[in-house]
Amino acid sequence: MVFVGALRPLFAAGQSNAALIHFDGQTQVFRIDAGDISYVLGINEKKQLQAIYWGKRLSTADAFAMPHSDPGLSSFESSSNTTQQEFVGWGGGLYVEPDLKVTFPDGNRDVVLQYVSHRIDGSQLTILLKDVSREVYVELQYQIEATTGVLRRSAQVQNRTSAPLTVEEIASGTWNLPRGTDYRLRYLTGRWAGEWNLREQIIQPGKTILESRRGSTGAQNNPWFAIDRNGSNDQDHGEVWFGALGWSGSWQISIEQDAAQQVRVTGGPNRFDFGYLLAPGEHLQSPDFYAGYSHDGIGGASRLLHRFEISSILPHAPGPKLRPVLYNSWEATEFKVDEAGQEALAEKAASIGVERFVVDDGWFGQRSTDRAGLGDWYVNPEKFPHGLKPLIDKVHSLHMDFGLWVEPEMVNPNSDLYRKHSDWVLNFTGRPRTEGRNQLMLNLARPDVREYVFEFLDKLLRENDIAFLKWDYNRNWSEPGWPAVAPEDEKKVYIAYIQNLYSILDELRTKHPHVEIESCSGGGSRVDLGIMHYTDEVWPSDNTDAFDRLLIQDGFTYAYAPGVMMAWVTDSPTWVNQRTVSLEYRFLSSMQGSLGVGSNLNNWKPEDFATAKKMVTQYKQIREIVQRGSLYRLISPQNGSEQSVTESVSEDQRHAVVFAFLHSSQMLYPFPRIYLRGLKIDAMYRIEALDGKLSGNSPAVASGAFWMQHGVDVDLRGDFQAAAFTLELMDR
Ligand code: DGJ
Repeated sequence: MVFVGALRPLFAAGQSNAALIHFDGQTQVFRIDAGDISYVLGINEKKQLQAIYWGKRLSTADAFAMPHSDPGLSSFESSSNTTQQEFVGWGGGLYVEPDLKVTFPDGNRDVVLQYVSHRIDGSQLTILLKDVSREVYVELQYQIEATTGVLRRSAQVQNRTSAPLTVEEIASGTWNLPRGTDYRLRYLTGRWAGEWNLREQIIQPGKTILESRRGSTGAQNNPWFAIDRNGSNDQDHGEVWFGALGWSGSWQISIEQDAAQQVRVTGGPNRFDFGYLLAPGEHLQSPDFYAGYSHDGIGGASRLLHRFEISSILPHAPGPKLRPVLYNSWEATEFKVDEAGQEALAEKAASIGVERFVVDDGWFGQRSTDRAGLGDWYVNPEKFPHGLKPLIDKVHSLHMDFGLWVEPEMVNPNSDLYRKHSDWVLNFTGRPRTEGRNQLMLNLARPDVREYVFEFLDKLLRENDIAFLKWDYNRNWSEPGWPAVAPEDEKKVYIAYIQNLYSILDELRTKHPHVEIESCSGGGSRVDLGIMHYTDEVWPSDNTDAFDRLLIQDGFTYAYAPGVMMAWVTDSPTWVNQRTVSLEYRFLSSMQGSLGVGSNLNNWKPEDFATAKKMVTQYKQIREIVQRGSLYRLISPQNGSEQSVTESVSEDQRHAVVFAFLHSSQMLYPFPRIYLRGLKIDAMYRIEALDGKLSGNSPAVASGAFWMQHGVDVDLRGDFQAAAFTLELMDR
């Protein structure tokens, strides 16, 4: 049996009763209601599974008629191209994006799917489709999360014929939007040190493809989309349909406006160079594709997604642990790590309240530059003559836990591992092996490589008291060959690699339940809902410039929760832009996410330690609001804005924290008034500045209505200024 997504457990069982899935046998209509959404589909007269409604929750009294296929527009735009199908095979003259494309050994490449049966099991609906003549089945899975109304969809192709077949394209499913021509698409683009750029475009007839062909998620596009009605939406108002793929390999999401002006969003593994040979009796499961709907604008959409990630995706969901304040050595020492140097940094980090000390790259093998050592996961005896234990003991004596950097999927040609196992890397026989950062990709799909990687990590965790792994991944695939298997099976690498990645993470977490993991990929190149199921936090970017980060963090939070977004305070001027900003500004920028410190503390003055200690203490007081709360974007940093302001409100609406940033004041203009959101209108809240920059005209206590309608002034003037304040509900 072949799985892709099957390792991921379903949502917490306790939620199933609150969600509603009904089937009306007379009309052949399925209705899913949860959170504030209704999702309706049915079986039409051709036995196709047809989308009927996806949007704001409807009354239970609302009934739907049996769906009828669209007649088509002309001989060129036939019925199957204009009927909004949930999952459609390539066959019968289909020109819109298919969900499945298969080649049979006899040359037939036609698949036409029809409804066979279904099963409703609490919050889960399973529908079986079958080709009109061949024993090819597709099991569609729908699962709804009760509170957020976020749906999970996936598909499983089953080969019940007596011969192998090749799956050339498989999607998790198609999301169909109500007919319309006024849609706007938002998506994320990026590159190393410049991730998380929010883009938007009007959806036109034709197709937009968001994708990665790189073997991993990539920063160039992130597997997330949001679609709203152009012109009638703003941050917190209007309809938004959004979704994200849970897949850390090459992926594709197509957004297509068809000839009948209907928008279809289809997503799954990337189709380029895909070809999965499925033997008789085997099945192939697609990744999970999640999607939701909000009528509270793009802000409401991201708040729903954040809530869903916290309650259903992250390890320990629905109660993932708060992120500790960490120190990371990378920007301070790069590869020059050793026992004495790291101990000295650890002492300084502990003095400002850091809770986790992380040694980055350079501690292992013959690793003194990025040209050697990857793959040789023994502690370097010159740098750590007594192993890691003395440093770990020291870190513990300072009341911090200990974390370590690893890059398990890579090997430098200059390593003992490569000298012994040069066949372990992705390669095509006899072809050059393209290096990236002087390293090659281990082929994790190979059972021996999987075993090696799991064994070294397991040993590391067994022999050392390690609380945290920073799991790095610093290049993309090239020459994706797997010469050890039959040529017709080689392309399975796209699936098998990611399966093994997930299974290693899963097994490590089961065996070492106290260990937390960060997903890092030279910055934010591997952030998606697949990897986030196994990792507690992610590294959004190597760009740690506190001003650039405002934009990066803003883009990131459209798709992912602030609580998983690690943000370090680093040195100024930054290596990125040579920009100098104050330590307070750098702290406030990082406090929008999960706080870390990456400065070279050896260069700090006593006043820097005092400032840092004060701000770390403040962060610990507000971190639950930032990491678990609802995020409101009050002033966006997008489009060259001179200001930006975010507000986080605790789930119970008793606490809020606001961060305000000014790029440069001009022409004596004051900082715009800040209008809060998400508070209880009638409750009284006390305002308190974290840094004394509130303007004198604010009362100390006022109603939620006052803070939201009258607003708050902050006294920010100059260049690169920042302020923060909190609100606390006063019990009468
Ligand atoms: C890339 C990461 O993003 C950095 O934080 C650091 O860990 C380096 N790799 C180490 O090689």
